[in-house]
Amino acid sequence: MRLAARLLRNLSRPFSTTTIMHQLTPASLNPAVLNVEYAVRGELAIKAEDYRNKLKEEDHGLPFDRIISSNIGNPQQKGLDQPPITFVRQIAALMEYPALSTLAPSAFPPDVLARASELQHEIGSIGAYSHSQGVPFIRQNVAKFIAERDGFTQANPNKSYTDFSDPNAIFLTAGASSGVSLLLSMLIASQNDGILIPIPQYPLYTATIAQFQGKPIPYYLSSSTQAGWSTSVKDVREALQKAKDEGINPKALVVINPGNPTGSVLDRATMEDLVRVCEEHSLVLLADEVYQDNLHLRVKDPSVSFTSFKKVLHDLSSPASLISFHSTSKGVLGECGRRGGYFECTNISPEVLALIYKMVSVGLCPPLQGQIAVDTLVRPPQKGEESYSLWKEETDTIHKALAERTGVMSERLNKLEGVTCYPSPGALYLFPEITLSDKAVQTAKTKGKAPDAMYALELLDETGICVVPGSGFGQKQGVWHYRLTCLCPGVEEYVGKLEKFHKGWVERYGV
Ligand SMILES: Cc1ncc(COP(=O)(O)O)c(C=O)c1O
Repeated sequence: MRLAARLLRNLSRPFSTTTIMHQLTPASLNPAVLNVEYAVRGELAIKAEDYRNKLKEEDHGLPFDRIISSNIGNPQQKGLDQPPITFVRQIAALMEYPALSTLAPSAFPPDVLARASELQHEIGSIGAYSHSQGVPFIRQNVAKFIAERDGFTQANPNKSYTDFSDPNAIFLTAGASSGVSLLLSMLIASQNDGILIPIPQYPLYTATIAQFQGKPIPYYLSSSTQAGWSTSVKDVREALQKAKDEGINPKALVVINPGNPTGSVLDRATMEDLVRVCEEHSLVLLADEVYQDNLHLRVKDPSVSFTSFKKVLHDLSSPASLISFHSTSKGVLGECGRRGGYFECTNISPEVLALIYKMVSVGLCPPLQGQIAVDTLVRPPQKGEESYSLWKEETDTIHKALAERTGVMSERLNKLEGVTCYPSPGALYLFPEITLSDKAVQTAKTKGKAPDAMYALELLDETGICVVPGSGFGQKQGVWHYRLTCLCPGVEEYVGKLEKFHKGWVERYGV
């Protein structure tokens, strides 16, 4: 009966021989989408996820019993389990559920209760949209942090922090990625517009440039056993000239400092030269400084400090346009899922700021929990406050673990035949270079894989360790790498597995 009713209903619908319904296909999408590639979550990560599911079966038959996610800088991910900083979570909890301050006051130190109450007073409910640019009070705190970090406050006790960093030129974001994406979407006006990017680079840049149909202008980073990875300003200039000769219109220069995937930290002279290049060619300097708190040398020598492009611009009295990005995902907070970050605009005209404001307001506002995390990033507990000692202990422990693991890993990997692991003084990664034999390269070719992707896949198949092949970040022709993070606990077991795998690889393919 029901079937008959449905048939009748269908027959009674207007019938046209010309209407053929087409479902969405990739070919009907914006072609730029098809060109986007993002290796950090690519083939390797997908296969690792399949293995993770298989491991739940009793008879999984895999030669390992867990997946080690060394492919992504996601410190709190299951298996990596970097503990969140208590202060950050206490503030988040009180902002989420303010009644906790009366229901469980003893669960929170007085400074946390006071801080949360201050934020509640400024923000109100975190269920409401905020100012599109981010809560003004939090932006003020970001500006104060920048002025202090860069030594302006100390050097100019009679001046206001706003003389250095203007809260109205700061935009809070859902992680650094959304800021980068917005700025690139605004900068790329035609398919001829180019963005200078380091190679190897974090694939956010190539992916976003592809999405907005601009041209990546690669400048290659150099590597040497002594100096590690470095940026040659001569190479940047050559890349710029070559692009111009090809009719490309360079709009911006991306610098990642400390570097991903290289872990390098720029020296002051190079930073100054890069600023000069931007001045000469009217390039916007996009400074990705999300790893500014990951300086491993600081563990041994607390006087080691991060130099921001903001400071360099200020010291040079440079008129160059700068946009600097920071995030709550890295450093020791590792609050990747909370999606907090900001960008600061320097030497950007009020008209352009107004347009950036217009564009961010289309998205209404960045997530409030992300904004609150930014506040804890830029306003950690101070000496004398109740939360200080625990905060210090927790952050020191993480810095120490990251530095130690980086040291152990690079030392042991460097001893392997055909592996060169350059010093990695910052960020969360090592980027060893691997010599691959002709046999390995030919075998990879027959499998339709990049040789370092084949290395990474076999590593995953044998050990459960998931890394990202260097081809996902770009590298010089015929040079092979992989990137691994320094976030995995149990470094002895982990490096032991890497060593065993590599020796087996050398037996199979030679070097
Ligand atoms: C260099 C660099 N920039 C930006 C990001 C994006 O970070 P998020 O969007 O989580 O702030 C990452 C993430 O790994 C990164 O490595």
